Amino acid sequence: MACEWYKGMSFYQIWIRSFKDGNDDGIGDLYGVYDKLDYIKSLGVDGIWFSPIYPSPNADFGYDISDYKNIHPEYGDLDQFKKVLDKAHAIGLKVIMDLVINHTSDEHPWFIESKKSKDNPYSDYYIWRDGKKGKLPNNWDSMFEGKAWEYMPERDQYYLHLFAKKQPDLNMDNPKVRDEVKSIMRFWLDMGVDGFREDVITFISKADGLPNGLPFIPVANGMPYYKDGPRIHEYLGEFREVCNEYDCFLLGEGPMTTTRSALRYMEGENRTLDIMFNFDHMMADCFLTEYIHRPFNLVKLKKAYSKWQKELNGRAWNTLYIENHDHPRVISRYGNEKFHRESGTMLAASFIFQQGTPFIYQGQEIGMTNIRLDSIDKYVDVSSKTNYHRFHTREAIEKRLERIYHSSRDSARTPVQWDDSWHAGFSAVEPWFYVNDNYPEINVKVEEDDPLSILNFYRKCLEYRKNSDVILWGNYREFFRKDPLLYEYERSYKGKKVLVICSFSEHRMPLLIPKEYKDLHGKLVLCNYASHDKKVLKPYETRVYELK
Ligand code: GLC
Ligand code: CA
Repeated sequence: MACEWYKGMSFYQIWIRSFKDGNDDGIGDLYGVYDKLDYIKSLGVDGIWFSPIYPSPNADFGYDISDYKNIHPEYGDLDQFKKVLDKAHAIGLKVIMDLVINHTSDEHPWFIESKKSKDNPYSDYYIWRDGKKGKLPNNWDSMFEGKAWEYMPERDQYYLHLFAKKQPDLNMDNPKVRDEVKSIMRFWLDMGVDGFREDVITFISKADGLPNGLPFIPVANGMPYYKDGPRIHEYLGEFREVCNEYDCFLLGEGPMTTTRSALRYMEGENRTLDIMFNFDHMMADCFLTEYIHRPFNLVKLKKAYSKWQKELNGRAWNTLYIENHDHPRVISRYGNEKFHRESGTMLAASFIFQQGTPFIYQGQEIGMTNIRLDSIDKYVDVSSKTNYHRFHTREAIEKRLERIYHSSRDSARTPVQWDDSWHAGFSAVEPWFYVNDNYPEINVKVEEDDPLSILNFYRKCLEYRKNSDVILWGNYREFFRKDPLLYEYERSYKGKKVLVICSFSEHRMPLLIPKEYKDLHGKLVLCNYASHDKKVLKPYETRVYELK
């Protein structure tokens, strides 16, 4: 029987390098995490997802792993990890790890061996191909850095990298590689971790022959040949078997996935993934990628939410998130920095009360915002740099930087703002990356003391959700679908109903109530303002009613 415990829970995501520096070298680490476990627990979450904390050259900040069974020395060691794990468990927090197995670092010993020759024990661990008449093996683009192929003179061959050059794709068709994956899973499960978030997992099985993609598609043209590839369910089934030996759960990242293909992973007793991250709702202010920015469109956002709520209902379980380490900060996107507190709290209620397991990303709970850097050289994310140098190169520098401001993953990766002291209390020394200038106003300490703060609102939302069977298990229904400024949804369970009202407007607006409720006969259980008006919503006001 597949595990179910993750359904009632909520999780906090740690991107360790910027979370909290515990030994004052400017880099976040497991000592800092250990010190902040009680804080994490105080939010009302039930578990932690660690973005990669393994040894890595950091070409993609941990998503390029050079040793799967160890901890990056900058973050601590296995003993320190064990301490964090034990304390987390002692205070009732589950811990899940990132499992990045589509690719390794090019500095992983497997790759260092593999690239040496065509006949060594690791030569088939990666996807090597000959060039075609002096050209690349096919026309695929990588996500992060130019074409998806890199030449290695030692083998006189090219290796495939769907992401950065320093992230060669593993050859999952090789049973030895799959055995390595299982051994990695067992290593962490034996230590006591509770599950994995499987990185870009829908990409690990590539179509035979690696056919050319459509040449005119600007992003990821090879995707039809590696997304949900031919042997994906077989391979994930094998990994699932390992997982079933433990009481663990599997969360898969599915870039560009649809409800239809996601259900094939998540439905039924023999599911290979328990839940998945989809990206549909992260596209409400852009086209294809966040780099192609568009004005925020609430109707588009609501459509994505409602689609997943409806189509998974009774068949599979949703994940709920609006931030992680791959997306700019949500207040700067779907909210409004001028109404920082109001929009930050409203955004919390807009997603946490849907059906599914919420994930809160570090700093989201205090409403951290995008950072503005004045030169591309100050950015460190490989995809931001590529985008800057690849597209729109004729535009003025200011315009291009504005695009990066809207899209860079670095905005989610600035040090967490703990207080208003030097370096925002993140570290006693100069941090590895820029602290957002707004840290004197936006930080954990000031928000702890303010009952209306974003921080305290997140706590209230998570607590209310945990204690409400309507929110946990109820059906979902959306009202006023076409309204460009108002998001209203109802949850219902065993005759009980909860109505969530979210204004996305910076102006006051009339409070619309679904006809069937006429006058709101119900108890107001949550509101992000100290007082509320019968007929009017204030800017970015949110309310939650239990209806009679
Ligand atoms: C996932 C990760 C992202 C990483 C990419 C390649 O999308 O979330 O951070 O860059 O995979 O591993
Ligand atoms: Ca440190």
